[in-house]
Amino acid sequence: MRVLLAGGAGYIGSHTAVSLIEAGHEVVIVDNYDNSCPEAIARVEALTNIQIPHYEVDVKDKAALDAVFKKEPVDCVIHFAGLKAVGESVEKPVAYYRNNIDTTLTLLEVMKENHVNQIVFSSSATVYGAENASPLYETMKKGTCTNPYGWTKWMMEQILSDAAYADKDLSVILLRYFNPIGAHPSGTIGEDPQGIPNNLMPYVSQTAIGKRECLTVFGGDYDTPDGTCLRDYIHVCDLAEGHVKAVEYAQTRKGVDIINLGTGTPYSVLDIVHAFEKANNLKLNYKIGPRREGDLAVCFSNADKAKEVLGWQAKRNLEDMCRDSWNWQKQNPNGYKK
Ligand code: NAD
Ligand code: UD1
Repeated sequence: MRVLLAGGAGYIGSHTAVSLIEAGHEVVIVDNYDNSCPEAIARVEALTNIQIPHYEVDVKDKAALDAVFKKEPVDCVIHFAGLKAVGESVEKPVAYYRNNIDTTLTLLEVMKENHVNQIVFSSSATVYGAENASPLYETMKKGTCTNPYGWTKWMMEQILSDAAYADKDLSVILLRYFNPIGAHPSGTIGEDPQGIPNNLMPYVSQTAIGKRECLTVFGGDYDTPDGTCLRDYIHVCDLAEGHVKAVEYAQTRKGVDIINLGTGTPYSVLDIVHAFEKANNLKLNYKIGPRREGDLAVCFSNADKAKEVLGWQAKRNLEDMCRDSWNWQKQNPNGYKK
């Protein structure tokens, strides 16, 4: 298959490009480099020994996107393009709604006009809200989000579902990611957050390398075995392989399907700290601090559906995730910047 990756230069997109190519598919990348850079694509090319057609295009720019579709015919789209920082979305809600919703609408219009009928969408466990108790099943009713970022995912799921209801040729796969961490084992591609990281693993690895003084564990008094929050961390390479299965599955069906991509196994923040120390034989400077507003105590998937429907399950363990995150951080202390 030939697959267009909208936002394909980013963290998950770049790893997915590698997995798709390894599985024998072709990829085309469109990205405006709002939160990434062309160097990520160059590194995917070096890893796979394949030249990837790629275009600096804002997915909201309909004419520019249409020109790419005309020049590079594809069978399927994976829609990664979006703004994803929860805190920033609270400060800049309009920018988040504008970018995330508009990219989705523009993609759907351009796909229809170019007779592309398959789309795999990067959704998030955040759409389950606080109403649903873990393990989270795809059959649960969506919940209430606590921030504009989460609402954009919630709304984009609705938009894509409505589009598939109206257009019986459309195949939509909504992938609900849990907590992607880790990096390609080569250490040449990985997560490259701008500024102070919001997410746990980049903060851990930047603390280990000395860029941050001390990791603050957000809350030690939750109703969990060690008092810290539980999450479903998944290796980004497993997540990438899930996308390969999802694009292949999208070809075989019509309508909407929702699939969790997680491991189904919860780990606490302190589990991550200790696994990182053990896997990499180092000590992390950390302290227990106050809770972060909006955090749930527990969030993890039931991962059975992905196994049944896609024939996919996560293969990599927490040690792999910690080792590969650190390997990427050590080799690239400043991310993709030299
Ligand atoms: P990322 O920021 O690394 O990648 C997103 C890419 O989209 C970036 O390369 C960015 O430049 C690009 N982009 C943004 N707006 C664009 C636009 N208008 N036109 C063209 N390109 C645009 O993020 P990621 O971690 O790779 O996440 C990919 C997707 O998965 C996002 O939609 C994100 O919300 C979703 N997601 C991520 C996580 C996570 O923990 N990383 C969890 C759940 C869902
Ligand atoms: C967050 C978002 C979620 C988004 C996901 C991926 C919130 C409330 N949720 O999920 O919507 O889909 O990122 O981008 O922001 N932690 C610390 N110290 C830190 C950083 C994190 O203790 O410096 C803890 C958090 O409290 C949490 C866990 O580590 O328990 C994971 O945090 P994070 O990586 O930010 O992911 P989520 O909060 O699960």
